[in-house]
Amino acid sequence: MYDWLNALPKAELHLHLEGSLEPELLFALAERNKIALPWNNVEALRSAYAFNNLQEFLDLYYAGADVLRTEQDFYDLTWAYLLKCKAQNVIHTEPFFDPQTHTDRGIPFEVVLRGIKQALVDGEKQLGISHGLILSFLRHLSEEEAFKTLEQAMPFRDAFIAVGLDSSEMGHPPRKFQRVFDKARSEGLLTVAHAGEEGPPEYIWEALDLLKIERIDHGVRAIEDERLMQRIIDEQIPLTVCPLSNTKLCVFDDMRQHNILQMLERGVKVTVNSDDPAYFGGYVTENFAALYDSLGMTQEQAKRLAQNSLDARLV
Ligand code: ADE
Ligand code: ZN
Repeated sequence: MYDWLNALPKAELHLHLEGSLEPELLFALAERNKIALPWNNVEALRSAYAFNNLQEFLDLYYAGADVLRTEQDFYDLTWAYLLKCKAQNVIHTEPFFDPQTHTDRGIPFEVVLRGIKQALVDGEKQLGISHGLILSFLRHLSEEEAFKTLEQAMPFRDAFIAVGLDSSEMGHPPRKFQRVFDKARSEGLLTVAHAGEEGPPEYIWEALDLLKIERIDHGVRAIEDERLMQRIIDEQIPLTVCPLSNTKLCVFDDMRQHNILQMLERGVKVTVNSDDPAYFGGYVTENFAALYDSLGMTQEQAKRLAQNSLDARLV
């Protein structure tokens, strides 16, 4: 039924690799690494995937990531995601990874990076999927810790294209990271940031003006500020929108309230992405399918959204 959506060539521009950890793989890695889990089985874990807001999700997401210990674990995680891309005709991906989620547990930065990067390189060769990797800072941690992470990353500078900003948005405005983003840009890295997911339009302004971002991750609250909307349209700044994520995290009460098609018709360069597909019920095709089912997205709109994703690539 959704074959035509699956068949559209697409890029994915908003995907957290740690958020693609399916419960089955999570249990398999726990067994391999001899880690006791607080859930009895896959079904019990899946039934915990009910969230009232971003923070409730993040608490479970960071707990789940604890099973990732070795270079092979990070390789297997990334490879499983790339197989999904292949099955859904995602021909290019620009995934995020959160090094601090792992280095704070004592996993060396290079273990994380080597596993992820090797899978991405193999994905280019064996699956024909091109990529650009984005190192994302956790905004609930300090500026100093972000600087430390950037320093750890610099010996591997060529492995990334950009830095990003994710985790708990409210109370952690983009300005907190202006200096570390300046430093990243001085190293030739591009910048993106989550803004306007739960946070107000002011956070989107700051991300644009202070962090000099190329794309806004989420950005759905831009619609509350007409001057901001005009800027986003005039400058054709892409938004990486994640419809299933937004309904699972109660940013919108119901998919029928989602504003992505309204934005598209106003001329905003919106794209469709999965964010944390293992937790939110689907990969890119399922996100497109939700727009078709609940918002009456037309074939022409779907094609424009897919084309936007290819146009909004950083590399
Ligand atoms: N980390 C993983 N998914 C996220 C989201 N949707 N918002 C902020 N941080 C995240
Ligand atoms: Zn995200």
